[in-house]
Amino acid sequence: MLSHMGDWRRSHTCADLRPENIGQEVCLMGWVQRRRDHGGVIFVDLRDREGLTQVVMSPEYNKDVHAVADSIRNEFVVAVKGKVGMRPEGTLNDKLPTGHVEVMVDELKILNNSNTPPFMIDDFTNANEDIRLKYRYLDLRRRKIQNNLITRHNIVRNMREYLYDKGFLDIETPFLTKSTPEGARDYLVPSRVNPGKCYALPQSPQMFKQLLMVGGYDKYFQIVKCFRDEDLRADRQPEFTQLDIEMSFIDREDLMELLEGLFIQIFDRVKGVKLDRGFPRMSYDDAMEKYGHDAPDTRFDMFLKTINELVADCGFKVFREVVAEGGVVKAINAKGAGQKYSRKDIDSLTELAVSLGAGGLAYIKVNEDGLQSPIVKFLGDSADKIVSEMNGEPGDIIFFGAGKKDIVNLYMSKVRLRLGKELGLIKEGDYSFVWVLDFPLLDYDAEAKRYVAMHHPFTAPLDEDIPLFDTDPGQMRAKAYDLVLNGSEIGGGSIRIHRSDVQEKMFSALGFTPEEREYKFGFFIEALKYGTPPHGGIAFGVDRIATILTGSDSIRDVIAFPKTQKATDQMSEAPNNVDEKQLKELCMKFEVVESD
Ligand code: AMO
Ligand code: AMP
Repeated sequence: MLSHMGDWRRSHTCADLRPENIGQEVCLMGWVQRRRDHGGVIFVDLRDREGLTQVVMSPEYNKDVHAVADSIRNEFVVAVKGKVGMRPEGTLNDKLPTGHVEVMVDELKILNNSNTPPFMIDDFTNANEDIRLKYRYLDLRRRKIQNNLITRHNIVRNMREYLYDKGFLDIETPFLTKSTPEGARDYLVPSRVNPGKCYALPQSPQMFKQLLMVGGYDKYFQIVKCFRDEDLRADRQPEFTQLDIEMSFIDREDLMELLEGLFIQIFDRVKGVKLDRGFPRMSYDDAMEKYGHDAPDTRFDMFLKTINELVADCGFKVFREVVAEGGVVKAINAKGAGQKYSRKDIDSLTELAVSLGAGGLAYIKVNEDGLQSPIVKFLGDSADKIVSEMNGEPGDIIFFGAGKKDIVNLYMSKVRLRLGKELGLIKEGDYSFVWVLDFPLLDYDAEAKRYVAMHHPFTAPLDEDIPLFDTDPGQMRAKAYDLVLNGSEIGGGSIRIHRSDVQEKMFSALGFTPEEREYKFGFFIEALKYGTPPHGGIAFGVDRIATILTGSDSIRDVIAFPKTQKATDQMSEAPNNVDEKQLKELCMKFEVVESD
């Protein structure tokens, strides 16, 4: 229902009027997007959430109204009453749904005035992001951001509707919690009534949703804020939204089937895109080998290949030594790049690789008349073998990364993405899902000299790998799965450990002493002893899904009030200093010390 104020009742939104409405008396309310004075006749583009309508104030038509209109400026809030008319020949605007009509204004009321906005509120604004975030409420008026938030709403609505239909219960879990370890740092909240103690804001509802399974609520979901104090990137926010799901009595296949259905519905209803069931699947090992990343962008085929065997004895010292020291040499064939890539482009690609830790980015350009490369003279016979292994044909450039496996994968995956973009292999409107499966259970943290959970400590190992806890934990595989869309990890989950003895083994493998285990997770291990059903779940990054579906460059464009890369709110200037009085009540004293 539209709002009304006394005898001023909004009859239509600013997107509604069409030639069928011609002759009707209407009442519109909204903001002045633009005011144009054409030889005495004032035209205003009136804007609301839905759209724009042209309203006209002419001195011949209504002198008083025209006089008032003279004072209105951009972003004033006005109400108009008037008659819908056809726009004169030659002034029709086919780009606007309301572009064939206009409203001749009989009554005009200024509901509020506005300061001159610090930037133009339109899609062509060139205001920098800092100023847009400082005046976020004005940025929110822009059509692009409005469309993003409407799309996000539609995504969330479909998530809820789909899961309600499938019998899921929407249950809230606490925000003031005991610290849950998921890899990032916690945001802490001091407790006034328990001086010296802190709650942690949840990094996810992981333990609570598992406890709901213990409690018998076998299909749970929640669309919930999560808080992680981690280094921010284009796809990360310190507080972000998850679609969090947990189910009992299921296996991986049940979950994957359910979730494919969810995305089929979302894509159909939000984007009109038909997806097929049976999303492709890939093992973690394959993803790392072929894409160098566990979130592979499968929109284009161009694969990395380990060529250690071909270069182990070659004449190029860098490659030979890397192989001897247990590293990897990986190659990628940029098909057809020869035409497109100048020396400067290759240098720029090399800079990207070096900035990510590469020693260099060797290459071989395959020309009609032979190979062109800074390393071919060292490679000798190996060069032809490599070119043939990589299906090199005239016009191709083969790039090489050599070094420690993790680092080579990191930069070669980025090189691959850059090549994909620059060679035009990624088409707008392509959506490519892939399930990544069979993750390792543990990852070795060389700095801390201990294993850390690759997903989280509640993830079940493959049944056949359980004995490896005692012999070779590093080789264990997990019942974990990620859903990746266009190279972005949009969701991750696992089948959980539901036996307390296995959970204790897991905590031991992670290097927790029995005391630490008890202190941090005692309540949870205890709960697992009271008839815990087999269960598993997943969580999706709602912000990331919305970023992809709106074609936005940044996660900030799909969040009403986002934070900057430095985790600040430009508008309210959070975080801020707090009163001495507040600290005193918390029995706290701040001393800022240099961090190391
Ligand atoms: P995970 O840590 O993989 O799993 O998170 C699930 C999904 O949340 C999104 N995400 C983020 N989005 C924006 N900003 C961030 N800082 C951020 N961090 C994560 C990603 C990711 O795939 N409790 C487990 C899930 C489970 O096992 O059920 C969890 O939180 O899209
Ligand atoms: P250099 O011998 O340092 O002149 O390097 C010869 C070529 O090998 C250059 O194109 C470098 O970019 C490249 N290169 C050097 N180190 C590496 C490495 N670790 N991985 C891949 N290419 C490298």
